[in-house]
Parts: sequence; C-alpha cells; structure tokens
Amino acid sequence: MEKTVKFALLGCGRISANHLDAIEHAPHAKLVAVCDIVEEKAKAVAEKYGCNYYTDLETMLDNEDIDVCNILTPSGYHAEHGCMVAKRKINVFCEKPIDVTKEKADMLIECCRENGVKLGCVFQRRTYDAAIKTKEAVEKGWLGKVTLADAYLKYWRDDEYYKSDAWRGTLALDGGALMNQSIHGIDMISWIMGGIEKVNADCDRLVWDIEAEDTAVIRVRYNNGAMGVIEGATTVNPGQETFFAVHGTKGSIIFGDKGFYMWELEDKSIPVPEVTNSMGGANCQYNETNFGHTYLIEDMAMAVLEDRAPMIGGREARKAVDIILAAYKSSKEKCDVIVEA
Ligand SMILES: NC(=O)c1ccc[n+]([C@@H]2O[C@H](COP(=O)([O-])OP(=O)(O)OC[C@H]3O[C@@H](n4cnc5c(N)ncnc54)[C@H](O)[C@@H]3O)[C@@H](O)[C@H]2O)c1
Repeated sequence: MEKTVKFALLGCGRISANHLDAIEHAPHAKLVAVCDIVEEKAKAVAEKYGCNYYTDLETMLDNEDIDVCNILTPSGYHAEHGCMVAKRKINVFCEKPIDVTKEKADMLIECCRENGVKLGCVFQRRTYDAAIKTKEAVEKGWLGKVTLADAYLKYWRDDEYYKSDAWRGTLALDGGALMNQSIHGIDMISWIMGGIEKVNADCDRLVWDIEAEDTAVIRVRYNNGAMGVIEGATTVNPGQETFFAVHGTKGSIIFGDKGFYMWELEDKSIPVPEVTNSMGGANCQYNETNFGHTYLIEDMAMAVLEDRAPMIGGREARKAVDIILAAYKSSKEKCDVIVEA
C-alpha cells in the first residue's frame, strides 16, 4: 500500500474547509485529528470527517500520532502555534501570512530549523498556470526588458465581515487589506518579477472601523529595475477580479483570476499558454476547485515522504510580509523604504 502522511488541523474556522477538502483529495494525505478552542467547531468537523477532535493543541499533540499540523488560527498566532508544534518534532504547514511581524516570522522559521522539521506555507496562487507562465516569460526574456509590473487587488469586505471575529482588522492578529487579502497578489507579482527592492506607500483607513488599513497604494521598484503600482483595498464595491499587468520592450501580458486577457509577444512562435485552472471568480476569496490548496497539501505530504523541502518554505512566505511591513513603514514615515532581504 502507498504511504500516507498524517495531517491534523489547528483551527476549524473558514479556511479549514479548504484544508479538509484538500486533504481528502490529495493522494498522499490523511486526516487524523482537528483542534479548535471552540468545541462545537472541532466536533462538527470531526463528525463530518470521521476523525478525533480536541480543544487544546498540547492535548492533541500528546494523544495523536501526527506528521504535519496545519496552522489555521488567526494570523498573529501562527508563529506561537507553529513553534508549539515544531518543538514536538512535528512538521508545520502554515496558512498565509506566516505571521504579521518579521520577528515572529523569523521565530517560526528558526524554531522549525532548530527542531529539524519542515515548514510549508500557503500561497495557493503560485500554483496557477497564468502566474507560472508569466513568471516564465519574465525569466526567459520573452518580454524583453521588463519596465512595468502592476497588481490591482480590489476587494470588498463589509462591516459584518470585520465584526464577525474580534481579531479581524486588528494590527496584532490580522492587519488590513494588504496583510490579509492583498498579500496573495503581492506575493504573486513579487514572485513573478524576482522580488521587490523598495516601496513608497500610502496606507489608510477610509471606510471601515478597524485598526489596520482598508485602502492602500504602493509604488514599487523591483529588483530587476522595473517599476510598478500595487493597489490593495477592501473598500471597492463590487469587489473586482484581481488584475496583473507586466510590460516590457518585447511584449505585454495581462491576466486576471480567470486567465489571460493579453499575451502579446513580439516573438509569435511562443503561443498563448493554455490555462487549465483559475484563481476563481470575480473577487472570489477561494478558487472554485480548491486546486491550489490541494496541490500544496500534496506537495507537503510528498516533501515529508521524500524528505525534501516543501514548495513554499518559511523564507519564501516571509517575503510578502516584508514587503507589506515596508509599505506600512513608508506610509507612516512618508519616505521610500528598502524591503528587507
Ligand atoms: N489561503 C487563503 O486563501 C486564506 C483564506 C482565508 C483565511 N486564510 C488564513 O487562515 C487563517 C484563519 O483564517 P479564518 O478566516 O479561517 O479565521 P477564523 O476566525 O474563521 O478561524 C480561526 C479559528 O481558529 C480558532 N482558534 C483560535 N485560537 C485557537 C487556539 N489557540 N487553538 C485552537 N483554535 C484556535 C478559532 O476558534 C477559529 O475557529 C488566517 O491566518 C487567514 O489569513 C487564508
């Protein structure tokens, strides 16, 4: 029989549905237990998926034989909870963002390294064809010298959303439109372009009664010399499909959640790539097929079985957090900020 990797979930909130579905569909993953401080949530998942449930992480770790624990708690707890898991020599699979400060992100990365466990992180958009092909076009020089790269990340979240849980929109546990929603697109455009060198940002709270930003514009300079604009907001009604545009001296690519809107290269021998998956519908929080989460769960399982690094490790996951923290600093101090490498 083929080997399977035993997964447990910490946190049975909104995103747990994607992880449960992904574990069910990933050929080498198996769910053994779930934990949530709210007993009804853990119990409901356990009953549906036929696994054990707990209301305390340490008790779950004492009683279960687990290979990987998925950290699905509020963002500002990721490092603390991930370290509790890593110290038990159990691999960590962490939702975005890795945490909301550089210090905590580094603490988790270091703790996993010290304890010899793997740290896999979620940025499911990195698994989508349109993003992968655009990155290839940049790297192979199909666009010539790339001069501009933009990301438009215009979401709608209402008052009900921000009031649904006390942690939402707080600086300590969540962050705002950049750290929660736009981080997906920020990670993606930075990954496609080979990193961001410096930012100049304006982050503000224009609508919602939260601590963090709900609307932001970031002017960026990429490591490869190109310039660009990133807009991130949760104040746009109706929420828009996220959009990415990359332009160079030999071509232009524009794509959104559903695939390419433009693939115009001077070299006509490079065909428009086929897009077999999508990032979901307009302003969709989750993609329709759960392809990205399933891909990353299977990758994490195979990383354990093959004793290799997972596709997105801690340092990779920290990059988007570094960019957002630099944007916060730039907005506060009204100056350019170099993104920490
Ligand atoms: N990849 C994505 O597209 C995506 C989408 C949504 C959320 N997320 C991330 O997932 C994380 C959770 O978000 P959510 O929307 O599911 O939040 P949520 O509030 O719906 O769920 C969080 C759950 O954690 C539980 N919890 C809190 N402290 C706990 C503890 N000490 N032990 C056990 N359980 C505890 C809460 O009771 C709650 O059920 C966030 O970091 C968020 O950024 C990622």
